[in-house]
Amino acid sequence: MGAREAAPILVAGLRRLEYRGYDSAGIAVLDERRPGGIQRVRAAGKIAALADKLGVEEPTGRAGIGHTRWATHGRPCERNAHPHRGGSVCVVHNGIIENHAELRARLEEEEGRRLTSDTDTEVIAHLVDSHYGRLRAAALAQAGGEGARLVAAVQASLAELRGAYALALIHDDHPGTIVGARSASPLIVGVGEGGEAAELFLASDVAAILEHTRTVLDLEDGDVVHLDADAGLAIHDLAGQIVERPRRRVEWSPVAVEKQGFSHFMAKEIFEQPQAIRATTSGRLPRAGEDDLGRGEPSFPELAELDVPALAARAKVTMLACGTSWHAALAGKYLFEQLARVPVEVDLASEFRYRQPIVRPGDLAVAISQSGETADTRAALMEARRLGATGLAICNVVDSSIAREADRVLYTHAGPEISVASTKAFTTQLAMLTLLAVHLGRRTGALTLERAAGLLDGLRELPVALDAVLGQAAAIEIIARRWRSARDWLYLGRGLAFPVALEGALKLKEISYVHAEGYACGEIKHGPIALVDERVPVVVLALEGPGYHKTLASLEEVRARGGKIIALASAGDRRIGDLADDVILVPQVDPYLQPILASVPLQLLAYHLARLEGRDVDQPRNLAKSVTVE
Ligand code: F6R
Repeated sequence: MGAREAAPILVAGLRRLEYRGYDSAGIAVLDERRPGGIQRVRAAGKIAALADKLGVEEPTGRAGIGHTRWATHGRPCERNAHPHRGGSVCVVHNGIIENHAELRARLEEEEGRRLTSDTDTEVIAHLVDSHYGRLRAAALAQAGGEGARLVAAVQASLAELRGAYALALIHDDHPGTIVGARSASPLIVGVGEGGEAAELFLASDVAAILEHTRTVLDLEDGDVVHLDADAGLAIHDLAGQIVERPRRRVEWSPVAVEKQGFSHFMAKEIFEQPQAIRATTSGRLPRAGEDDLGRGEPSFPELAELDVPALAARAKVTMLACGTSWHAALAGKYLFEQLARVPVEVDLASEFRYRQPIVRPGDLAVAISQSGETADTRAALMEARRLGATGLAICNVVDSSIAREADRVLYTHAGPEISVASTKAFTTQLAMLTLLAVHLGRRTGALTLERAAGLLDGLRELPVALDAVLGQAAAIEIIARRWRSARDWLYLGRGLAFPVALEGALKLKEISYVHAEGYACGEIKHGPIALVDERVPVVVLALEGPGYHKTLASLEEVRARGGKIIALASAGDRRIGDLADDVILVPQVDPYLQPILASVPLQLLAYHLARLEGRDVDQPRNLAKSVTVE
């Protein structure tokens, strides 16, 4: 917002953010010199499609908002593209509104509003418009002028929203005004090089505004910011008080900014995992303090019609996936069978179709895919459905082919994963499978309310434990330096740590081109132990819990043959230091949640080893992000 035309600045900023989402885009601009209120232009597809549309008719105005979308609710199409309008308000939003369905129902039933998109965002526009109308009718919040009423309407709306948001909105009657707010999603204010009276920016990512300013201030959770062409900048905190937030200079280059200062997208995505897990569980976990009955019940309205007792008693689940997602499926088998007593088969999607699988009506086929475009997984899901199974997809990319093929979809909401090596997609798949296992366990009766509530509490607290693991990145880099010359690695795990060991080995080989194998601990004496000598580092997942002592026995077997041990152990383990050459400690969590936590140090280890080898970490040779051919 400032003296320049907003539309070209918005489109250039969106281009800088395109790597974060690219299924549709739009802008809304308000021109005080032109009657008719906000002008909005949206297009499905990449920013280029929006730019083409704008080339025909570019809206004028010096204040505007824009967005490039990575779908969370509703498929990618123009109708679901931001900005969304509700009455006189247009809004753009990052994040997820957990209670959007309730709010939508209220707005439609009580106020007769017609919502035209499938998004959670549209309810925000209507809610603000509704509060604004109420305040105007009551002639409230006049002090501070009309702008204050808009701010008050936003504050009243935020009090009703649950979830994560960074949002920016404009109002037909308020030219020269933009209101923004954040809670658990990043939002920054940029102050133009000529000062706040000259130009002000609001962005979810500094990349969008870097060509205009390097002076930014970070908003805090609960902040509502009012940008005004005449009055400048005012920030209201959660309590409604006007506050100052410190300004800082951004020194990053534009390329570094896209990766938010990380050297590679893989590192950025590894570090995004606490937030990604929050997004996966958002709206599914009962609220903290929920009454007794709600405490152990994750929310899966998508599965209301599934006959879970019949599934457990007379049918089975078949999980279908490839690569990293197949490792998640293997963990899913342990989770579903142990927590819900539902029988599970896991198939490599590429094998499934050709092995004449036995699938019967009543079975549930769960296809797991980050991209939702993997040809083998899609074909396997189609085959399972043809044989009579109900198809459930667990995908990250909304409205992808596999999501469309399935009868039901659960989205992991990890956000775009750019690096070819999957990281946050894997841990969010694990989080979704854990939630699902708890849900099924409650419905089969295999899980007590108390146990289910404990697991859900653990999931809620997991991002904090993940932060603690990420805090050890420098120590893991030192371990990587020590072992960088090794050409063969073994990864060992037992129980739920077995799929994590497979995944750790896959991560290493795909990005560093170093040979690595994952094995179940009990298997090494049936062959792989022949590989062990003092040149082979053996990563042993020795977290406390069931199987810990047997894992230590395998560790001893390896040590006795001269193998070098890098142990992943639980904080507080006093024995492990004497048994291993290097130890990485992770916080104590419920054993069923350990796979999520244990995956992260292995990702970091692979990342540092590949970087030290000078590999193309984000785009390893011969690999593609989505494998759309058989
Ligand atoms: C490894 C990796 C691949 C994918 C596999 C399936 O890091 O990313 O092994 O997991 O190609 O991809 P999706 O999950 O998109 O079906």
